Amino acid sequence: MTTTELQHQSFTEYPMCDVHRLIEPGPVVMVSTFDGRRANLMTNGFNMPIAHGALIGLIVGPWDHSYEALRATGECVIAIPSVDLAERVVGVGNTSGRETDKWRRFGFTPTPGAVVRAPLVEECFANIECTVADDRLVDDYNLWILRGERPWFDAARRGAGEFHHRGDGTFSANASTVDLRDRMTKWHHLTR
Ligand SMILES: Cc1cc2nc3c(=O)[nH]c(=O)nc-3n(C[C@H](O)[C@H](O)[C@H](O)COP(=O)(O)O)c2cc1C
Repeated sequence: MTTTELQHQSFTEYPMCDVHRLIEPGPVVMVSTFDGRRANLMTNGFNMPIAHGALIGLIVGPWDHSYEALRATGECVIAIPSVDLAERVVGVGNTSGRETDKWRRFGFTPTPGAVVRAPLVEECFANIECTVADDRLVDDYNLWILRGERPWFDAARRGAGEFHHRGDGTFSANASTVDLRDRMTKWHHLTR
């Protein structure tokens, strides 16, 4: 799908140089894959920015059906849901695409991206089309180094923003913002 068509669906391109701003807050994300036959979705809490810009680390293990598609295609989409989708997102993380069409079951809509074959998630406020940049840590740590190829943002869907897994089945959201931009003297360029 072309950039123009996607913009009609209310996604606009997000600046590649700012992709770390989507991941650095530590959101629960969903990972969309396409294995050549079917698209699948999983939930992921272990993710991190690796460099300013669009290098992202993601833990996806062989216990996930998604792992096989990521191995086979070297592509995925990282989709960031707002907190109002939390119950459905937890459903996605407690069900396997081996036996379930999670898009249908949890009411998510696959939307073609521009670069990779894995679909964007229409309900999510941010979608990052990614390719695998480095898989050398996968065998030892299930750690995939991904490169964002095309980030998309839909401001209207941002709602109350991302949510975070506290590691025990409880989640936090709606954190207040402490604005310390004037203290970021060494990192002033990041605050613009
Ligand atoms: C809140 C939450 C966070 C999760 N984080 C991860 C993660 O970081 N890495 C991972 O491999 N699985 C994670 N999971 C588990 C997968 O989402 C789960 O195994 C899912 O069923 C995989 O789907 P699939 O088999 O269709 O790929 C998480 C699940 C939940 C509910």
